[in-house]
Amino acid sequence: MKKTIKDFELKSKTVIIRCDLNVPMTDGIITDDTRIRSSLRTIKYAINASAKVVLLSHLGKVKKEEDKKDNSLYPVSIKLSEYLNQPVLFSRETSGIKLKDKVRNLKEKEVLLIENTRFEDLNGEKESKCDLELSKYWASLGDIFINDAYGSCHRKHASIVGIPKYLPSGVGFLVEKELRKIDSILNSKAHPFIVILGGKKVEDKITLIEKLLEKCDKLLIGGAMSFTFLKALGYNIGSSIIANEHLSFCTKILKKYPQKILLPKDFKVSKDNINVEVKDIENFSDEDVGYDIGPKTIKAFEKELKTAKRVIINGPMGLFEDKRFSDGTKQVFKILEKNKIKTLVGGGDTASAANKLGYSSSFYHISTGGGATLKYIEDGKLIGIEEVDNEG
Ligand code: 3PG
Repeated sequence: MKKTIKDFELKSKTVIIRCDLNVPMTDGIITDDTRIRSSLRTIKYAINASAKVVLLSHLGKVKKEEDKKDNSLYPVSIKLSEYLNQPVLFSRETSGIKLKDKVRNLKEKEVLLIENTRFEDLNGEKESKCDLELSKYWASLGDIFINDAYGSCHRKHASIVGIPKYLPSGVGFLVEKELRKIDSILNSKAHPFIVILGGKKVEDKITLIEKLLEKCDKLLIGGAMSFTFLKALGYNIGSSIIANEHLSFCTKILKKYPQKILLPKDFKVSKDNINVEVKDIENFSDEDVGYDIGPKTIKAFEKELKTAKRVIINGPMGLFEDKRFSDGTKQVFKILEKNKIKTLVGGGDTASAANKLGYSSSFYHISTGGGATLKYIEDGKLIGIEEVDNEG
């Protein structure tokens, strides 16, 4: 068992909390603040225990100087101030003397959010490559390190894996809750256990698919990733998204588990992104692009899901951000809700879809981590959590 924030005496201590405040933003406006709200419990606990609180997080990807403009955490500090009902100080510096002074001047119960840790990536990818000098510097700012950045725990970053090498450490309430919920679904003996995968990225899920097929009774595949499987079966998928490099994997897996994998029968397609029609997969023309699963597929998925005792869903069934193509994802959520199936919604796009389509409180658990949850299912551990001190 890992140490948790509750195992530490926090009064007057400078506590560095690594959160995952990587929220979607458009022109500086936060479009979904779930990750901020999910981080509050640990932050409030530290404030109430009279700690001096230093918050770290990344936001987006920072590869070049221009990326800084759209990836500042400043709007997050404003949002946090609102939720915490107190000003949250903000440091534009991510390292150096000035930041050290700011932290030194913190008083009990004050909160300081440091700018995007990935700004340090412009300086030789120090954050993303877990530079130990940077890790040591960040560790030197505090007395205790708490990892509550569940969504980033699969990343070997300085702010995740590096800092706890140099400080006493524990996990926060969000990390504890996420692991408890995922373990409860994965370790349950209830069957049928059905996994629903969607989204674009076959490559992110490829190694996981085999692991999941060993554990689950049925794998329903929707979203853009289904086209690589359909192509592997010889269908003409028109101009839909395809991951050619994974075709042979899909062929192999379809041969190995012919009874377990259920693929879409029909799609909402468009040639020009203006006219939309429903087509069976057998009838695709070369120009057709599939954007969402169709009604026959939804029916077939419903037939399977009705008997399910537990479900993991990761990835939307279509381009849900576009209203014309949100129905597949919505109907699948509806089936899960209606049949009261113990469902884990795996982070990222799927969590956004659940929030956007009105299913934010319908499920057993909506994880704040997409990639992290997949990695945890695959490996049974997360690198960021491994690094945290053990109890006793
Ligand atoms: C996420 O959104 O999955 C986490 O915040 C990690 O972000 P990353 O995929 O950019 O590392």
